Amino acid sequence: MKVIIVEDYEQMSKQAGEIVLDVVKKNPNAVLGFATGTSPIGLYDYLVKANKNGEVSFANVKTVNLDEYAGISATNENSYAYFMKKYLFDRIDIDNKNTNLPNGMAKDRQGECDRYNALLDEMKQDIQVLGIGSNGHIGFNEPGTSFNSTTHIVDLTESTIKDNSRLFEDVSQVPLQAFSMGIKNIMNAKQIVLVASGKNKAQAVKGLIKGEITEELPASILQLHPPPHFCLFWYSSYSKRKEHNLI
Ligand code: F6R
Repeated sequence: MKVIIVEDYEQMSKQAGEIVLDVVKKNPNAVLGFATGTSPIGLYDYLVKANKNGEVSFANVKTVNLDEYAGISATNENSYAYFMKKYLFDRIDIDNKNTNLPNGMAKDRQGECDRYNALLDEMKQDIQVLGIGSNGHIGFNEPGTSFNSTTHIVDLTESTIKDNSRLFEDVSQVPLQAFSMGIKNIMNAKQIVLVASGKNKAQAVKGLIKGEITEELPASILQLHPPPHFCLFWYSSYSKRKEHNLI
């Protein structure tokens, strides 16, 4: 695993963006795995810039996203489909029919997991972008999720519902379930680039880099991902990083 500790969020976004751009430049038909959340927004801005200045085209890439809430539609502002359009897809020359997320409105939720798994078997990610939760989750794979998991339905924990309620009008509107790629689908990616920023991620990043490989810290499995695999991390001062034994 290559760990890159950077000075600020902008550096993290630029360097992670370069890694993704490199994949697309080498293979304009690449399959790109994307994540939502605050961590990759700068990375997406970087891809938008490169597209607008003509450095790269996304016209032939295909995308797969990690997860989606169950029970809300793609037009709902809190859906991950909406997030991806807002921060990336509507700002680049991608063909919308090449973008894939679990369908939050699927009536047959297990059937939707099966469909998504079949799609992922067919379209292996050339690169997967990941964020990480402060408890080490990746996608919606919370501590305790099997390393063998494939796309599945997740019952959101009370703490996740509470955390995510800041984005909804009311906590009662937060969906109770979500679809998530499993750990196995994530590990199938040919390359992984994980972006983490801020103090609240320090312990999770430490576990990811040098902790025990355990289902209690889902991201720790990434230690077994064959290279190239990058973790980009920024967290305040050198002394703080030292304090957390990160360097
Ligand atoms: C979202 C996802 C989540 C986030 C994680 C970190 O698609 O996969 O695992 O990456 O919750 O979120 P942020 O970046 O908002 O701290």
